[in-house]
Amino acid sequence: MGHDIPKLREFERLVFFTGAGLSAESGIPTYRGDGGVWGKYDYREYACQRAFDRDPAKVWLWHDERRAAIAKSLPNIAHELIAKIQGQRPGTRVITQNIDGLHQRAGSVDVIELHGSLWRLRCEACGSRSENFDLPLESKHCDCGNWWRPDLVWFEDMLDMPVIEAAVSAIEQCDCLVSIGTSAVVYPAAEMPIIAMRTGALTIEINPEETPLSLLYAHSLRGTATELMALLAG
Ligand code: APR
Repeated sequence: MGHDIPKLREFERLVFFTGAGLSAESGIPTYRGDGGVWGKYDYREYACQRAFDRDPAKVWLWHDERRAAIAKSLPNIAHELIAKIQGQRPGTRVITQNIDGLHQRAGSVDVIELHGSLWRLRCEACGSRSENFDLPLESKHCDCGNWWRPDLVWFEDMLDMPVIEAAVSAIEQCDCLVSIGTSAVVYPAAEMPIIAMRTGALTIEINPEETPLSLLYAHSLRGTATELMALLAG
């Protein structure tokens, strides 16, 4: 496999398209596979608007616990290499499905967060947003009087179209898309790498396991984010 590893330094407009597997080596559980979040928790109880409307305290407690665990995690070398490459080549974009904020903590900027962030709140009633995420539960109300909720894209949520459009635009302009640590089963995120395949960009997948899109990538590399990013960025 070593002989056909492309080198990222050959590209000017890279897109890193990342999923939970990128943060696995930072100790943050993925959603699917062994030890996955959805193997332990039913999203219908914790991660959708209906669950929130039914029991906001239960949903807030679950998200506050996940945020507290993530706060103890650190970006790994793959996050750091992505941030370093973006610093060297400002045309690099980072599009993530992750809500953990580790790209930003590693120094990446203008990160497109397709599924929102655990570090932000939003009010569904008036559209306000806040970063005052560690308010006590009884104070988690917007000025308009409604509950703040985590600024995430939960299952069954409407998508944030400006975010989707920004991601599609970045991918349409890239000369290389590197997908890292996503199972490619949640839409519309899952089909975004296909845009890069259509525009003729070089496409690389990093995942220890095969995904439904693996056969479509120019390079579908079996391995972890840290080991393969070290090779690609070398
Ligand atoms: N390096 C790279 N990839 C890894 C690693 C690793 N060290 N460990 C696991 N993976 C891969 C797994 O093989 C799997 O394909 O990461 C992927 C994680 O898949 P998911 O847990 O489904 O995460 P993701 O694809 O980001 O989920 C998409 O689903 O639940 C929703 O909104 C949630 O953003 C999430 C979306």
